[in-house]
Parts: sequence; structure tokens; C-alpha cells
Amino acid sequence: MKKTLLITGGAGFIGSHVVRLFVNNYPDYTIVNLDKLTYAGNLENLKDIEDKPNYIFEKGDIVDADFINQLFDKYQFDGVIHLAAESHVDRSIAEPMAFVMTNVVGTCNLLNAAKNAWKEGGYEGKRFYHVSTDEVYGELHNPEDFFTETTPYDPRSPYSASKASSDHFVRAYGNTYKLPVVITNCSNNYGPNHFPEKLLPLMINNILHNKPLPVYGKGENVRDWLFVVDHARAIDTVFHNGVLGETYNIGGFNEWKNIDIVKLVCKTMDSKLGREEGTSEKLITYVTDRAGHDLRYAIDATKIMKELGWEPSLQFEEGLDKTVTWFLDNQEWLDNVTSGNYQDYYKKMYS
Ligand code: NAD
Ligand code: TYD
Repeated sequence: MKKTLLITGGAGFIGSHVVRLFVNNYPDYTIVNLDKLTYAGNLENLKDIEDKPNYIFEKGDIVDADFINQLFDKYQFDGVIHLAAESHVDRSIAEPMAFVMTNVVGTCNLLNAAKNAWKEGGYEGKRFYHVSTDEVYGELHNPEDFFTETTPYDPRSPYSASKASSDHFVRAYGNTYKLPVVITNCSNNYGPNHFPEKLLPLMINNILHNKPLPVYGKGENVRDWLFVVDHARAIDTVFHNGVLGETYNIGGFNEWKNIDIVKLVCKTMDSKLGREEGTSEKLITYVTDRAGHDLRYAIDATKIMKELGWEPSLQFEEGLDKTVTWFLDNQEWLDNVTSGNYQDYYKKMYS
């Protein structure tokens, strides 16, 4: 069935995997990728699909309401998958307002545009899918506890507070205006194209260049890791089969203490680089802890598994191996990102 979908943030880490999956798997859909190309947006992530006839790139800012409304007029979208966001907790501590603008105001602009564009023809067949994070639930202390879809919100960083706020607005539009909405909250992703400010790609990049590996505090904090392509597959599942008005948690039941996962990356890199085992671990440096550092995240993904039949396709060891191999095979991507050259790609290709 022909559809025109808006995917926001499609030049980012997760968004690029979602765009690729939809462009390749649904040739009848026209996929419009809207991205501001902030420091986190990299069109090189989409080189392999940029010439496909069902793919369109639009550069723009979701904070600009006029632009968003015009885009909805231009394309008459049937659905929205909203990923555009400021996504890094450390940046949110340094510059919270950027998170308020993009994550809260930008999301509301999209909700308004969808409501106004869709109200006349009715909401039949329309869907606004908001991609969110498990960080809205706060932190866990008891090892037996998991985040479920009914865990009360308790955001503790400016990032998670901005995402929690956007989730609330999405639900409020669902309740008040009956906008057909669905939300997913996912655990930490890892995989190809991950921007090297986040833990795993930062460690991989620093190991490659023999630089210190900064571990915050004692490295005791726990994160729950999911391969990014499995998140994209879950988004596909929920977009097509999720029940409107529902929330689904996404995760792979894969918790790691930071220090343990960093050591595993060191071991994997040593083996792939032909370095003696233990070489990279020597680079580990304990540094001042992140302010308000959440102790543990852990997702209970039973609902999406039981009700929609989604499950992760990769075991973690395989996913990590693939990820490290990808970074080693794509050092030019990494160099372009760390040097800033990737930002010229838009000018080269689109202007
Ligand atoms: P990312 O930072 O890699 O990418 C974000 C993308 O959004 C970039 O391409 C950026 O240019 C674009 N963008 C930022 N501000 C914009 C604006 N004002 N207008 C238009 N585009 C803008 O982020 P990511 O890690 O790919 O995360 C994508 C989404 O998934 C976010 O909503 C995030 O909250 C959510 N999420 C991320 C994770 C994770 O582990 N990375 C886990 C769960 C949920
Ligand atoms: P990050 O990748 O920033 O994701 P999030 O904060 O959204 O979970 O960080 C993952 C974990 O790794 C988090 O507990 C903070 C920690 N961390 C470090 O110890 N050192 C680092 O250099 C970074 C970026 C993160």
C-alpha cells in the first residue's frame, strides 16, 4: 500500500538505521527524512540508500513551526516516526535549553502539524509514532526491579526530563485530540554509526588511538544494551502492528556494568588489532562522576515480545563483535566524524 512517511532525525545514529530499513523493506512507501544536521546528523550514514527512488532528504529544524507546517502541506504524510532529538546526557547537563527546544518544543510542533493536517480527512490510517527512552523512568536500585510500561516517570537528567515531557505531550494529544499516537521506550543502543561521544564508540575510538578511556565514577553504573538494528526492527513492528494509544518498552534483557563492558571492548579490540591481551585495559582511567548519574537502567520487554512477537535477533557478543568490526572497517567514517569533515557531505551532495 502506498504511503508517505515522515521520519525525523534520520541522519542520526538510530534514525539512519530506521530510514534504511523502511526504504529497503517498503518500496511502496515514500520516506521523507527530515533532519537539521546538528553535530549528530551525518548523511554519510545513508550513502547506500540516498539514490533510492523512494527516499527524499529535507534539511530543516523541528523547532521551526512554519517550516514543519509547510512540510506537512507539501507531502501530505500518512505517518510520522519521530526520532529527532538532542540525545546526549552529558550535553544536556552542559546546555539544557537545546534539549527543551528540540525535544519538547520540536515534538509539540510536530504534534500540532499532524493534528492540523489530519483532522479534516480524519485520522483513519494515520499514525504518529514517538521514539523515546527508558531514561524517563529514572534509576533502579533493587537488582530484581525492571522498568515496565507502568513504572512511574521519574526523569533525573535534563535529557530524560525533556524526553519525559515530550512523551507526556504525545499522550496528551492522544487523549485530548484523539491523535493516533504510539510510544516506545528503548534501552541503550549500540552498533554501526554510533556517534563517538557515547560510551562504546568513544572507547573504540580511544583504543584505536591509544588515548585514555574515561570511566565515570567507579564504573559501577549499569546500562541495558540493544543492537541498533534490533531497535529499528522493533520500530518497524510497532509502527505496523502496535496498538494505538499504547506504550511498548524495547530492550534485550542485556545488562552490563560500565566497567565490565569497557573491559570487554578492550579485550575484543586487542584481539582484532593483534595486540597482546590486557594492552587496552591499561588505558582505563577513572574520572569524576557525571552529575546526578543514574545508577541502573533495565527494561522489561515482555509486552512487545508477547503481544507483537518482536525479539532481538542478535546475542550481545555477536552484536559487539559486529560493531567493533564495523568501526575497524570504517575508520574513515570515524575520522570524518572526529575531524568534522562529515558536515561537508550535505553541501557536496545536496547543494
Ligand atoms: P542522535 O543524536 O544520534 O541523532 C539525532 C538526530 O536528530 C540527528 O541526526 C540530528 O541532526 C537530528 N536533530 C537534532 N535536533 C534536531 C532538530 N531541532 N530538528 C531536526 N533534526 C534534529 O540520536 P539517536 O541516539 O539516534 O537517538 C534517536 C532517538 O532515539 C532520540 O529521540 C533518542 O531520545 C531516542 N533513543 C536513543 C537511545 C540511544 O541509546 N541512543 C535509546 C533510546 C531512545
Ligand atoms: P552514554 O553512552 O552517554 O549513555 P547514557 O548516559 O544515555 O546511558 O553513557 C553510558 C554509560 O557510560 C553511562 O553510565 C555513563 C558512562 N560513561 C562513562 O563512564 N564514560 C564516558 O566517557 C561516557 C560518554 C559515558
